[in-house]
Amino acid sequence: MIELKNVSCQFGDKIAVDRVGLTIETGETCVLVGSSGGGKSTTLKMINRLLPRSAGEILIDNQSVDSFDVRQLRLNMGYVIQGTGLFPHWTVARNIGLVPRLLGWETARTQQRVHELLALLGMEAAEFAGKYPHQLSGGTGPAGGGGPGAGGRSQHPADGRAVRRTGCHYP
Ligand SMILES: Nc1ncnc2c1ncn2[C@@H]1O[C@H](COP(=O)(O)OP(=O)(O)O)[C@@H](O)[C@H]1O
Ligand SMILES: [Mg+2]
Repeated sequence: MIELKNVSCQFGDKIAVDRVGLTIETGETCVLVGSSGGGKSTTLKMINRLLPRSAGEILIDNQSVDSFDVRQLRLNMGYVIQGTGLFPHWTVARNIGLVPRLLGWETARTQQRVHELLALLGMEAAEFAGKYPHQLSGGTGPAGGGGPGAGGRSQHPADGRAVRRTGCHYP
């Protein structure tokens, strides 16, 4: 369960997120919908502490996100970065296998999981595993994410990385 209690984020004079309250039960799908600049990305980034909050509390299973080791917090949270986040000089397989490797999985297990995830994404391993991000169709979209040209196949390795865990966020 993820809970946000009166969470705010201010950049200088600008209030990007204003006292948001939200409870997301385990297994529940929650979608933040809003216009560009409305504070969706900022809200998500505060959950895994990519951004500090100016006020409020964020709890995961009743524990403040501040109480977690920040590396563990992020490793345990599937997170798709739209537009950035893939290493351009790494193959699709290596990009997808990043987190299992960081978690110390053996090479064979990582490789098997990468192949399962590629299959899940409809990407034939023989065709895609050895490709580089720039060789995928779809483009990475404008910096900051969203808008025309975002997503496509180039988004999939990041998706694969995220669905390795159960959660999946588009910041
Ligand atoms: N690092 C930052 N520094 C200053 N302002 C920021 C920063 N990140 C986001 N903002 C501002 O905060 C507001 C919310 O942005 P954002 O969370 O990216 O919105 P959304 O994801 O809903 O499009 C915007 O006005 C944006 O310009
Ligand atoms: Mg956004």
